[in-house]
Amino acid sequence: MAEEQQKIVAKEGDCTLLAIESSCDETAAAVVRSGREVLSNAVFTQIPLHKIYGGVVPEIASRSHVEKIGAVVAEALEQAGKTLEEMDAIAVTDGPGLVGALLVGVSYAKGLAFAAHKPLVPVHHIEGHISANLIAHPDLEPPFLCLVASGGHSHIVRVADYGVYELLGRTRDDAAGEAFDKVARVLGLPYPGGPELEKLAKGGDPHAFSFPSGFNAGAHYDFSFSGLKTSAINLVHNAQQRGEEIRREDIAASFQQAVVNILAGKAVRAAKEQGCGTLALAGGVAANTALREGLRQRAEQAGIRFVCPPKNLCTDNAAMIGAAGYYRLLRGCTCGLDLNANPGLQLGF
Ligand code: KG4
Ligand code: ZN
Repeated sequence: MAEEQQKIVAKEGDCTLLAIESSCDETAAAVVRSGREVLSNAVFTQIPLHKIYGGVVPEIASRSHVEKIGAVVAEALEQAGKTLEEMDAIAVTDGPGLVGALLVGVSYAKGLAFAAHKPLVPVHHIEGHISANLIAHPDLEPPFLCLVASGGHSHIVRVADYGVYELLGRTRDDAAGEAFDKVARVLGLPYPGGPELEKLAKGGDPHAFSFPSGFNAGAHYDFSFSGLKTSAINLVHNAQQRGEEIRREDIAASFQQAVVNILAGKAVRAAKEQGCGTLALAGGVAANTALREGLRQRAEQAGIRFVCPPKNLCTDNAAMIGAAGYYRLLRGCTCGLDLNANPGLQLGF
């Protein structure tokens, strides 16, 4: 990321951002007012393009972003009834993600910022996911705890203040979404596996199989999903080798339940132990109903407020980047036109 200027460039209040997100397989643009009000939220999903390969093909993702980004940005401005000149700043995801995919959004945002003489605000993708909660819950203010579960990350983060993040726990191996996708593939489900596995699980018994909690049973806040994923995959392969019938619905439901128990159990314990009265959920896996409800129940039992964004703001979108971008702009975190995509960007931990 280019050097940040620590001066206030915007005052709290009426401030409208155009936000762009292209870190993986969604080309997205949104117009967001003052970090909390979504005026438009345009998303072009590449899922049909990658489905036949069973996962995201980076080269195809980059090319598709190039083809669509102009139309998606135009759609976002049109839906909001705004022009580029009326924007106060341009926010863009600069990492982490696929480098070629990120570069498309970053380059496009730089072009717009240069042409329209607007400040450019770089946004960390995970900060965006966390900030989706600010849109959904206008009264939500830091400090709060956030469980982030996406395709690439499983984090427990203490949001101490706007832009101040303390990493309490993270996955030691696979992310939760990654484990969902890999188990789904072995169950014969198409990409992206998470939502498909959730559908299959609806017809299954969550208690049919029990999976060991292993490393996750420790007093720490870190996760491990690799062992759980391998147990589920072995169940399927062993049954296939013996020629036995095995109910795929039961494996899906039991696996999902095990993931929910690990994520929700640990996040609520962390909130209690850290004295956080509010627990938020974020990331693509946050669209999973069993996880949302599992967390809600456990948090309520512990006397902790639970919040999560609507499902369309859990998976990748640009509205969340506009929300995070606003609070970055308030802190003076703008950058120059030398901004580069950073696939391994860290969230200031
Ligand atoms: O946040 P996201 O859209 O992209 C990344 O930043 O990674 O998360 C995508 C991940 C994928 O692994 C996908 O399978 C998972 O979120 N996911 C779900 C559900 N919807 C998306 N996992 C379980 N249940 C869902 N309903
Ligand atoms: Zn994401």
